[in-house]
Amino acid sequence: MNLINLFPLTILKDKIDISDDEKALMINEIRDMKKNSKNTNYQTKTNAWTGDTQGYEFIHKNVKFQNLFNEITKRIWEYLNCVEIDSKLIDLYIQRSWATISEGNERIKKHRHFQSHISFAFYLKKNKQDSNLVMFDESYKNEIMPGIFRSDTALQKGIVKKMNPFNVTQAIVNVEENDIIIFPSKTIHSTQPTESNDERISISADIVCIAKDSNLLEMGMPPLNEWTKM
Ligand SMILES: [Fe+2]
Repeated sequence: MNLINLFPLTILKDKIDISDDEKALMINEIRDMKKNSKNTNYQTKTNAWTGDTQGYEFIHKNVKFQNLFNEITKRIWEYLNCVEIDSKLIDLYIQRSWATISEGNERIKKHRHFQSHISFAFYLKKNKQDSNLVMFDESYKNEIMPGIFRSDTALQKGIVKKMNPFNVTQAIVNVEENDIIIFPSKTIHSTQPTESNDERISISADIVCIAKDSNLLEMGMPPLNEWTKM
């Protein structure tokens, strides 16, 4: 007997090694951003601090993050290569980028990045106890009985004996400091619930792919210089 698994979600995971001095500069810069938050009402008790909601949504323009973003750019191209997107035919644009800080039980709830194509999370500061990343499936391809793999009672009654890689609808991606995770922006994700975040710091950004030439190309965004402001 063979089981054939088709149509995976592909996520790239890699390490980016940056000197401790450079990391300390970035961490201090992010702590300053948090101190000078512009919209403190936005953060509730259990929500992590997210810089994009606090006036700091373009950290890729900050020279202290330049080297990191150069390294990230190389990984984004590698990710595109894995799904056979030809780097010679598209341009990449970073739209916005921000840091997040989680303390204690603070978390980032389920969300997706609607306005972009590729997103990433880089873990600038993370210890073992800090929360990992959680990814959610929306296609439920093996869910023969609708809802059955998302039902607590189906597990409790034993109709679903256990979760395995063929039936899970959410999965924890374990991450360490200096890891980067690259994924399609449309993928729903969150941080893992925990009580013990010890100033976990991550950096995220949204990236779009633009066709260099849209002639005879139906899909994909046409070159920006062809856009006309209305
Ligand atoms: Fe996100």
